[in-house]
Amino acid sequence: MTHSSLLPQHPLSGTSGLSAGPDAIDAGLLTQLANDLFRDPPPNPAPQLPPSEPGAPTPDYYFLEPAPAAATGSPWNQAPAPFGLDTFQPELVPSLDPAPGPFDVHTVRRDFPILAERIHGKPLVWLDNAATTQKPNAVIDRIAAFYRHENSNIHRAAHDLAARSTDAYEGAREKVRRFLNAPSVQDIVFVRGATEAINLVAQSWGRRFIGPGDEIVITWLEHHSNIVPWQQLAAEKGARLRVAPIDERGEVILEEYEKLLNSRTRLVSLTHVSNALGTINPVKDLTALAHRHGAKVLVDGAQAVSHLQADVQDIDADFYVFSGHKVFGPTGIGVLYGRSEILNATPPWQGGGNMIADVTFERTVYHAAPARFEAGTGNIADAVGLGAALDYLSRLGLENVQRHEHELLVYGTEALSRIPGLRIIGTAREKAGVLSFVLEGHRPEEVGAALNREGIAVRSGHHCAQPALRRFGLEASVRPSLALYNTRSDLDALVAAVQQLQKGHPRY
Ligand code: ALA
Repeated sequence: MTHSSLLPQHPLSGTSGLSAGPDAIDAGLLTQLANDLFRDPPPNPAPQLPPSEPGAPTPDYYFLEPAPAAATGSPWNQAPAPFGLDTFQPELVPSLDPAPGPFDVHTVRRDFPILAERIHGKPLVWLDNAATTQKPNAVIDRIAAFYRHENSNIHRAAHDLAARSTDAYEGAREKVRRFLNAPSVQDIVFVRGATEAINLVAQSWGRRFIGPGDEIVITWLEHHSNIVPWQQLAAEKGARLRVAPIDERGEVILEEYEKLLNSRTRLVSLTHVSNALGTINPVKDLTALAHRHGAKVLVDGAQAVSHLQADVQDIDADFYVFSGHKVFGPTGIGVLYGRSEILNATPPWQGGGNMIADVTFERTVYHAAPARFEAGTGNIADAVGLGAALDYLSRLGLENVQRHEHELLVYGTEALSRIPGLRIIGTAREKAGVLSFVLEGHRPEEVGAALNREGIAVRSGHHCAQPALRRFGLEASVRPSLALYNTRSDLDALVAAVQQLQKGHPRY
């Protein structure tokens, strides 16, 4: 796909074809390279050629470890990377087809082969989407195609497969940028998932910019991955963790949130959508309030991106994180968005290959973001798979998905509410995709097991959000959660199975 597309111009115009990798650069070229390190790309790029043609210019990002750099200053406050990604051209990424006509869930379901599985002789009803989403053929096939036709390490070699895999990987970064409406691909760091992204911010940005007496604000809705890293940081730095309370609906109490903000607040870290309750936080407003006090804002988008448009410029978030597997992509890949100026003022988290411009035994010069945060060989194939997932979702149209899911949420809420002894947990006015409940006389685990016998997959337990559930006096709930491929029939099956259980004898 992308590897045969037109390529952007190399800063050293016309000097390096694919036959001349970093090891082949001669002394004259090294001098020129050192002189050119911090120059802007040439204003008039030469005609662009496919990478395999002799003399074709090579994209910047092919070689992130090119040659010794003229290093000065502190190790993590360096000028932009010599082979940064700022000249990346989105031509490598094909434009998306316009969203097809009306959303047809039955057509969509055929894209997801696992939905044809049978469990205990019953058709699978997948209602555990907040834990992970299923994968469309577009993603499965894209990953297989990567391993069949493109597999190579990236940024480091002089051969065609390295060019293909680098194009595919950097093309995926552009797809993420477009999905989040981030200003630049330099703002997009590939990580293992939302948890890793939050830990990265806590351990690199947080360690540098949060000190004794500083305050970090979170909300009562947070997943453990947006609580524990801040507790750890606060304990290490002598900082204070403050928690904005929620009301009976599961909405953040705005006045109480605002009271927590002051000149000591360094960071607000809050979820976009609650995994346990489904609450959609008004992140734009909450971010604006935090910024008024000079605090940075991290938004955890893990539960949001498959349901609604996350526009980081509109939200004005300083960091936005999500996991690929919750948005129809593979496991083990996720995204940290950060403002370039913040990322480049942040020390790297992990050291190793790929993230350096130059290493001597005395000092190391780091690349600018995103490479400075991508030490070692990353999850190349799954980044490419994530790109395919975002293309797929964009083709369906997030507005179509949101409309479909909202209709299901209303339908499911009404149907479940009619079951005697069933209490829905989380009734926020703005809510996405989650129908947490408890059933009188039955433990959540027991309900989950009974549903499984009917082929219905839900999560039952604390959902890695114990404080949120304890706010409602609970240690666990049953949590059906929706995605774009769910139907009214799925919810009918759920309701019928719960009613059946309710009619039987309570087991405790
Ligand atoms: N965080 C995931 C969930 O909510 C695993 O289930």
